[in-house]
Amino acid sequence: MNRAKAEFFDAQAQAPWAAEEYGELERPKIARLVREAELASGQAVLEPGCGTGRLSRVLAEVVGGRGLVEALDISAAMVAACRSRVAAYPQVSVRHACLEEFSAPLAGFDRIICHQVFPHFDDQAAALARMAAMLKPGGVLLVAHFISAEEINDTHRKAGTVVQHDLLPGDEEMAAMIADTGFRLESLQDDELGYLLKARLPTP
Ligand SMILES: C[S@@+](CC[C@H](N)C(=O)[O-])C[C@H]1O[C@@H](n2cnc3c(N)ncnc32)[C@H](O)[C@@H]1O
Repeated sequence: MNRAKAEFFDAQAQAPWAAEEYGELERPKIARLVREAELASGQAVLEPGCGTGRLSRVLAEVVGGRGLVEALDISAAMVAACRSRVAAYPQVSVRHACLEEFSAPLAGFDRIICHQVFPHFDDQAAALARMAAMLKPGGVLLVAHFISAEEINDTHRKAGTVVQHDLLPGDEEMAAMIADTGFRLESLQDDELGYLLKARLPTP
């Protein structure tokens, strides 16, 4: 686990960008995310980098009581905030864990949603390979952000902090990494609703 990054995010757990409830601006972005993920009742969803659990709660409502949301985060403070936000949803397990080192407690997830976390993986190709190993055949991976790739990379570069080199790769590089790890890229949208990459594991 990257301790410097975990500590950085510990200090952000109360910041408005991490803690404030979603509002009108986020509503169409979440609707697109849920639609593109083809989320449905009863599914098992892995959510690395869950932060304070705002999306975890949305996912829990869609998969319902027969579904499962495994929410992970390297920051203990984010995990604590997430646990308290999803306390009423027994279908959510919140773990203090790093995606790259995580061993899933079940055979495979139906969906993996990387929401505003992909740039922070220290080895993005290794993270994709790990996620491919944890997804069921035919399962969907989303890499989602509420802002565009350009805005994400600008924000991180200018931050001058431990996340300043945490960037989303360009579209061609991303497509190559996705293909190299066994996924099929289905779409990549980068527009006023943010960045949304959808990939699927082929069925045998
Ligand atoms: C920018 S925040 C986004 C949080 C949340 N998804 C949201 O949209 O509000 C990124 C989160 O990912 C977590 N994170 C970073 N690297 C991680 C990794 N390798 N495994 C799991 N979580 C990670 C951070 O601690 C942080 O809470």
